[in-house]
Amino acid sequence: MKFFVDTAEIDQIRELNDLGMVDGVTTNPSLIKKSGRDIIEVTKEICEMVSGPVSAEVTSTDADTMIAEGRRLVEIAPNITVKVPLTWDGLKACKTLSSEGTMVNVTLCFSANQALLAAKAGASFISPFIGRLDDINLDGLELIENIRTIYDNYGFETEILAASVRTANHVSECALIGADVVTAPPTVIKSLANHPLTDKGLAAFLADIADTGQKIL
Ligand code: E4P
Repeated sequence: MKFFVDTAEIDQIRELNDLGMVDGVTTNPSLIKKSGRDIIEVTKEICEMVSGPVSAEVTSTDADTMIAEGRRLVEIAPNITVKVPLTWDGLKACKTLSSEGTMVNVTLCFSANQALLAAKAGASFISPFIGRLDDINLDGLELIENIRTIYDNYGFETEILAASVRTANHVSECALIGADVVTAPPTVIKSLANHPLTDKGLAAFLADIADTGQKIL
């Protein structure tokens, strides 16, 4: 399963990228706002650092303007993926841009039927939002499972990019279900290393070696 980082914070992307943990990056207008950076400038910087797909989201709602924005975004770098919302106009933009050879990530997906439409419109990625479904007492992971089944039933090549990932459990469950990609904030990716028994075991080992008075360096 590929790891994308869900942030526009350059330093946080760099830290994970240096460890080989970054297969791509996703941004959205809220993450751009949080970064305080210019969308074109920060996206260019991310694309220079990361070789995998970097999602940059359009900011309009009609297909023609989304297509024009998408064409502007792909001028930034060859690894740009244009992110469009899962609306009827977004699907039209997806069809046009993907026919031009542009990678398209269809975002704000909350149902299996929406995912089916995105695949038929030629999306490279579909982004179902797990956490936002969980927030309203629906089962985000069940949606990932259903999309996996539907895409496998018909051989759709659109990659399932599990988004709105909030917990380490979301990541492991997505891996078990067979999501192609998980995009998660850096804090969630780093939390995957945590286990209380690791901390407890390490404390005991350090105490025991200290008792012997030995040191390696
Ligand atoms: C990524 O593509 C999404 O925009 C992001 O994962 C949304 O996450 P949130 O629901 O935590 O804002």
